[in-house]
Amino acid sequence: MTTLGTPLSPSATKVMLLGSGELGKEVLIALQRLGVETIAVDRYDNAPGQQVAHHARTITMSDPAQLQALIEAERPHLVVPEIEAIATPMLEQLEAEGVVRVIPTARAARLTMDREGIRRLAAETLGLPTSPYQFCDSLDELQAAIDGGIGYPCIVKPVMSSSGKGQSKIDGPADVQKAWDYAMAGGRVGPGRVIVEGFIAFDYEITQLTVRALDAQGQVQTHFCDPIGHVQVSGDYVESWQPHPMTPAALAESRRIAKTVTDNLGGQGLFGVELFVKGDQVWFSEVSPRPHDTGMVTMITQWQNEFELHARAILGLPVDTTLKSPGASAVIYGGVEARGIAFDGVDDALRVPHSEIRLFGKPESFVKRRMGVALVFDADVEVARTQAKLAASKVKPRVA
Ligand SMILES: Nc1ncnc2c1ncn2[C@@H]1O[C@H](COP(=O)(O)OP(=O)(O)OP(=O)(O)O)[C@@H](O)[C@H]1O
Ligand SMILES: [Mg+2]
Repeated sequence: MTTLGTPLSPSATKVMLLGSGELGKEVLIALQRLGVETIAVDRYDNAPGQQVAHHARTITMSDPAQLQALIEAERPHLVVPEIEAIATPMLEQLEAEGVVRVIPTARAARLTMDREGIRRLAAETLGLPTSPYQFCDSLDELQAAIDGGIGYPCIVKPVMSSSGKGQSKIDGPADVQKAWDYAMAGGRVGPGRVIVEGFIAFDYEITQLTVRALDAQGQVQTHFCDPIGHVQVSGDYVESWQPHPMTPAALAESRRIAKTVTDNLGGQGLFGVELFVKGDQVWFSEVSPRPHDTGMVTMITQWQNEFELHARAILGLPVDTTLKSPGASAVIYGGVEARGIAFDGVDDALRVPHSEIRLFGKPESFVKRRMGVALVFDADVEVARTQAKLAASKVKPRVA
């Protein structure tokens, strides 16, 4: 049985979000609706989620001492990582000491913050199909890995990076040095290791949202959302839609892979399993042990969106992954570099039939920063894609 308390009282159920961007903001809103007391943590003030939480805290989450001090001072019932750049060994220590429960588990947060941890688990421990890969610590090692079997084309990524940062495709020998330099500049923790992966010429890629939630007997059950198709440009998502049509064999294989990896990571919550598909063949790419950016489409396509599913699952509540309507999402980029920007044309965007707009409220805009998203539902998923892109294009960010 789950018991929830009253926020801002001694009975409060307290949840701390580590990372309070647009995804954390929606998880916080879902928690607020259940009367949970929320603590939004980010590296800068007035992050999107901090604007909708009971408490806002600004720390460097990759600093173990700062993280420990904050968790011990606030004593939340649950700590929910929303980003990868966190001192996860400290979370493991605090979880082992019984100070806090980490969602889904501290081990899952550690393994998935680093491409090496999750890739070795998926391919070498669990035997899941992945692209061929090798880890390299120098330009010479990279060249040797390519010559030794990875071949061209291939993709180089810093082991610690997300949203395509430092990632590039190598089409031939002339690109190797450039890709190495780019990866060294783009990693999260300064110069370091890269993964080089053989290029998979997939037909399409999907996110398989997978939820581990308790049933009436208190046992974890795995639930699947309909597959989400998406388009990535330079490693960053620009549009997504749900459902993406798949052959029964490809869908079954996607769910087998998703269940295998999420069973191993364990705990309760929602996961975004990224998969490449060609015909009936499926490759595991990576997994987020938390809501996924491409899953923002579920804000208009599901009865319970991915953020509500996560909130429910972590609290031990039942979930329902049923689709409400096909639909699509399209990203609204900042387009300008400035603080406190203005958005023209939101009215025009909302005149697109069946549309919704989310503006995240980020204090500072960059040309390629995700500042909002347009959402459209339609019985025809292709119509929804076109209309979501149209709605997104109507919103015109500018210097205020
Ligand atoms: N081996 C590969 N073969 C073909 N395409 C790939 C390969 N690896 C990555 N890509 C493409 O690049 C995209 C981003 O790669 P990946 O998910 O590994 O990076 P990321 O930085 O973690 O991105 P994000 O944080 O947005 O998920 C993939 O969604 C896919 O479109
Ligand atoms: Mg990815």
